[in-house]
Amino acid sequence: MNSIGGYFELELPHGEEYHKNAIRLNTGRNAFEYILRAKAYQKVYLPYYTCDVMLEPIQKLNIQFEFYSIDEFFQPIFDFSIIKDDEVFVYNNYLGICDNQVKEVAAKCKNLIIDNSQAFYSMPLPGVNTFYSPRKFFGIPDGAYLYTE
Ligand SMILES: Cc1ncc(COP(=O)(O)O)c(C=O)c1O
Repeated sequence: MNSIGGYFELELPHGEEYHKNAIRLNTGRNAFEYILRAKAYQKVYLPYYTCDVMLEPIQKLNIQFEFYSIDEFFQPIFDFSIIKDDEVFVYNNYLGICDNQVKEVAAKCKNLIIDNSQAFYSMPLPGVNTFYSPRKFFGIPDGAYLYTE
């Protein structure tokens, strides 16, 4: 019989992870940094409407950046033809309700990072860099999932 002390052991579920094929990292911002480093992007386009910590990796790596606006349907107001090979566009799946906008942006934009921090249950599109910050959904101190080639 196990004795019961001042605390119970950590109770972890034994099921499979939802994002079992993703790279596991510690934070969403570091998943973002991982992509920036791996692909050696020199400039990032990111939405004004995002979390300010997204600037941390950009400033750490000393990468150029430019903000873009979105409209009332969360769609980017942006000319995708200006994106060069070493530049990348970040789009947020706002509130987890922008799967259609993600598809539309992916059809127009070759260098793309999808920030699914607010969309834990949206699976990534094939070949599209996509990261998650599960602590926005669950009572955990840290963690991130990343899909990238
Ligand atoms: C939209 C968005 N992207 C990225 C992040 C960064 O995630 P993390 O705190 O796991 O670095 C946050 C919040 O912090 C966020 O709200």
